[in-house]
Amino acid sequence: MERLQKVMAHCGVASRRKSEQLIIDGRVTVNGKRITELGYKVGNKDQIEVDGVPVYQEEPVYFAFYKPRGVISAVSDDKNRKVVTDFFHGVSERIFPVGRLDYDTSGLIIMTNDGEFANALTHPKHEVNKTYVAKIKGTPTNDELRPLARGVKIDGRKTAPARFKVLSSDRTKNTSIVELIIHEGRNHQVKKMFEAVGFPVIKLKREKIGQLDLIGLSSGKYRELSKKEVSQLLVEAKG
Ligand code: URA
Repeated sequence: MERLQKVMAHCGVASRRKSEQLIIDGRVTVNGKRITELGYKVGNKDQIEVDGVPVYQEEPVYFAFYKPRGVISAVSDDKNRKVVTDFFHGVSERIFPVGRLDYDTSGLIIMTNDGEFANALTHPKHEVNKTYVAKIKGTPTNDELRPLARGVKIDGRKTAPARFKVLSSDRTKNTSIVELIIHEGRNHQVKKMFEAVGFPVIKLKREKIGQLDLIGLSSGKYRELSKKEVSQLLVEAKG
């Protein structure tokens, strides 16, 4: 038996806090009975409904997905573009992406049906490190990129300290490949950070989330995470 709000978050209804509010607001029933107390516990056979809509209790599942460029990090798109869930054939759970990658960004994204896990990983207070590799315009020196490490102002607010490493530079083409590790998840953060130091991003890929990487995956493919990988991500999120 688990607390109702925890199960709701697990099922992807909303974050645990928002689920608590739904309960307090009297919008949740269990086996037809309205529940407004937060300590209420449910088992996996109990019928939960929110505003009369059944919440299906599923076993939590977790996947690492290599998102190709030109795919939306969402479960549906009003313009009918490809979305991340289009690549999951034979997965019946209602999975969604943990956080977002831009349409034109490729790389690692975690997919799950566990709202609470997703929340833990994306909460601004304890976000895990994310490793990006960017192809940028220009061949900057370390000194020119140093502000990235100290924090740069984007959208009126300074970014948290980050780590960067120039992996290669091509003087003929006037481009460089730079690794950037950040732990925040602001909108278009990496592109805006490079823009802020004067080296616009041409191409962007996310290589790692915490210790989890893309090794063994090719673009458009996914694999299930092991229990150990899931726990490790949670430990990193809390650390
Ligand atoms: N930062 C960006 O600018 N884009 C992404 O997709 C991810 C991080």
